[in-house]
Amino acid sequence: MNLNEIAEYIVSDGKGILAADESNPTCGKRFDTINVENTEDNRRDYREMLFRSKGMKDNIGGVILFDETLRQNAIDGTPLRKIIEDQGALPGIKVDKGLTPLKEGSDEVVTQGLDGLHERCADYDALFNAKFTKWRAVIKIGDGIPTDECIEANAKALADYAWVAQTNNMVPIVEPEVLMDGDHTITECFDACARSFSALFNALQKREVDNSGLLLKPSMITPGSLCSQKATIQEVADLTIKCLKENVPSEVPGITFLSGGQSELEATAHLNAMNKEKDLPWKLSFSYGRALQQSALRAWGGLQENLFIAQDELSHRANMNKLAALGEWSEELEER
Ligand code: 13P
Repeated sequence: MNLNEIAEYIVSDGKGILAADESNPTCGKRFDTINVENTEDNRRDYREMLFRSKGMKDNIGGVILFDETLRQNAIDGTPLRKIIEDQGALPGIKVDKGLTPLKEGSDEVVTQGLDGLHERCADYDALFNAKFTKWRAVIKIGDGIPTDECIEANAKALADYAWVAQTNNMVPIVEPEVLMDGDHTITECFDACARSFSALFNALQKREVDNSGLLLKPSMITPGSLCSQKATIQEVADLTIKCLKENVPSEVPGITFLSGGQSELEATAHLNAMNKEKDLPWKLSFSYGRALQQSALRAWGGLQENLFIAQDELSHRANMNKLAALGEWSEELEER
């Protein structure tokens, strides 16, 4: 498959991405909520449970993994990435190395991980058959931020990364996440996202990255989580589409949203509302972490005896989000 075919496959027929690439410390935070110890074996058992869920098939086109998971085998010796492939999904890998302050004393951050990236990508391609990669940039909204300096630095790193990934035959997912944290308005979110998307596609063009062989993973346009003025589902959908239409080239095959702290239902409802609009140049789908896993994690609780109920939860969310990516979801379908 060439880059465009990989990207198109991941978002074909309403399929989306399961983001299961939590770093070990982030996985620890999720496990704390269910009182499960954050060990290598528990992380494996949890992910094996997810990847063997029936609802992976036909609903999930790609799974983003953390380095440890790409190398892990299930209890019966099957590589976890093989279980993913057998479900008809492509394995992908998070390749950034997390966040560092933009400069001393700054609240803003830039993503690191370009050192040695070429060699790591070559290994992921050759040894593990990874088909795509992810790099997450974080943009914060607050007093006088985001600054142009922060937006430019992150756009440049994303473009440098995307170029290296494509050179190694892997689709880059470029993720400029504008955080929901704070009391900012939906208009402030729109502005920060518009500036971030515009800087990103300028940087990608300068680096001669092929837009038809990448996926964009943005946040939706929402008010901050502490903002007193809530937005309706339709407002979020309309403003998100407006911002994307103004800033994202039509050659990009797919836009796979992150959930960023939205509830499972909100994330599904927003995606569905956007896909009610039929005249869009790109596929709009999902690349959710928490909004796909929350109910499954809670149902699992670290106990083997809960395996099937937990898998049923993941299958259900995967299916609901596929319907949302086709604009065919409604709240009644949530009843089981
Ligand atoms: P959330 O959907 O939980 O925001 O996670 C997606 C992700 O991969 C963040 O980088």
